[in-house]
Amino acid sequence: MSSFKHNIGLLKALLVRIPLILKTLFLHEVHMSPVSGKQDLRTELTVAIIRSFMTFSHSITKMQQNSMRDPGIKGPMWVSKVVLPQPEFDVRDAVLRAIEDLKMGDETFDIPAIGSVEAEWTGYRSGVGKSTAQPDLSEAEKYRELKKESSSDTTILFFHGGAYFLMDPCTHRVPVAHLSRLTGSPVLSVRYRLAPQNPFPAALVDALTAYLSLIHPPPGALHDPVPARKIVIAGDSAGGNLSLVLLQTLLTLQRASRSINFHGKEVPIELPAGVATVSPWCDISRAMPSIIHNAKFDYLDLPAHTREDVVESKPFTPIPFPADAAWPVSPPRSDMYVNAKTVLHPLVSPLAASPELWKGAPPIFISTGEESLTDEGLITARRLHEAGVPVVAEQFEGMPHCHGFIMMSTPASKRFFKTMSEFCRNAGTGSVTPTGNLTYLGFKLRSTREISLEKISNVSDEEVEERLQRSAKWRLDGEIEMLKSSREWARL
Ligand SMILES: *[C@@H]1O[C@H](CO)[C@@H](O)[C@H](O)[C@H]1NC(C)=O
Ligand SMILES: *[C@@H]1O[C@H](CO)[C@@H](O)[C@H](O)[C@H]1NC(C)=O
Repeated sequence: MSSFKHNIGLLKALLVRIPLILKTLFLHEVHMSPVSGKQDLRTELTVAIIRSFMTFSHSITKMQQNSMRDPGIKGPMWVSKVVLPQPEFDVRDAVLRAIEDLKMGDETFDIPAIGSVEAEWTGYRSGVGKSTAQPDLSEAEKYRELKKESSSDTTILFFHGGAYFLMDPCTHRVPVAHLSRLTGSPVLSVRYRLAPQNPFPAALVDALTAYLSLIHPPPGALHDPVPARKIVIAGDSAGGNLSLVLLQTLLTLQRASRSINFHGKEVPIELPAGVATVSPWCDISRAMPSIIHNAKFDYLDLPAHTREDVVESKPFTPIPFPADAAWPVSPPRSDMYVNAKTVLHPLVSPLAASPELWKGAPPIFISTGEESLTDEGLITARRLHEAGVPVVAEQFEGMPHCHGFIMMSTPASKRFFKTMSEFCRNAGTGSVTPTGNLTYLGFKLRSTREISLEKISNVSDEEVEERLQRSAKWRLDGEIEMLKSSREWARL
């Protein structure tokens, strides 16, 4: 019944978009589209339709609910839901310590609570059709079935995207189960806490809890211990960010020779086998040029008030969602995820991290399109390479944010999944061979070019720094104004 209602809702949403679809079709056919020669009709329509849903007409809470609608568990996947029990406060304190170690100034942040973390073991289920429901088994039995179909001893720890405030493991089951199929690895997909209700570093504390739980199964866990060198951390968009930020936290704690008290044991900090990121979000300040240059290829047309081109010309305006219980928060913040003072902390913006912070990192995979976030992904790849980290990087001409996950039957997506799964398998066996190049895949995969990682971005480190500083100051000034007027308000 609810699925019937859901379909009617979808039908209505598509009906009101018929003029948009016709316009896109027409411009494409007469070769007058601004993306002509870089996107086929299907990609262009997908981008136009998703973009038309990106509005500020709903409150944050409503958007969160819409973005987390559970599509059910059906088709070629096993899903076993688990709760990772609350560990000692030491896990949170380790995160706080890493933040302190990397502090550059007077950054401020909320001290998050520590709690249990929900997650979904997700794997491939062979021999069933697209709409076959998962049988009614216990979670432990479903986990056993999932393990039976996993051929690899490597486990993937997955963090979904959604700008740190939307989406859920349930929305990413299809691409995650596909990744499991291609790698033979079971995937633990984590329901980390979301902003604005739970700002930085709540998600990071949950990510560390999940990572340690894999290596040191807490009481009642379904899984056997997974050695750190058999864990590949992966994520798309903000999940790619969280993957990189978790890695930086582990590197920082390891340098400080910290161990953590976890479910009654002192456990050492060990590094994972690798980190695989899809269209990673690496600059919360959204200050890189591709935010504007590549907007025409992408549905992530970021809100005008955060764009780099308005930083110079306009005073700060708060994020324009209709007010509700979740937003704006009190005291007000300019950003949903973090206080303005903390925007440039390396654990918030990996782009701001100096190369030394990456020293000793395991291999890292970065895949991007020709999208708003391309520059930050490419600059991060260049930095990692310069720090001596083995990097496997690829870029798809004309492709929007996370194209591989949202248009899974296209040749570009198939190619993306092939590289990503190869990387995960090789990382698990310690056999990633970096080439020092990025592979650039032309429109419709008609051409392939190798570009030296040193030359993949024309945005210099100095320009990155300058843009980050300018944008951070703009937000901070905006937040100070917001705080002032909220105090005046309180006095009235
Ligand atoms: C890297 O790319 C250059 C061309 O830009 C090419 O000459 C070189 O062979 C490539 N290296 C590898 C290991 O593929
Ligand atoms: C950098 O590259 C982008 C896109 O590749 C281009 O639009 C821009 O003009 C280039 N900037 C400079 C300074 O070369």
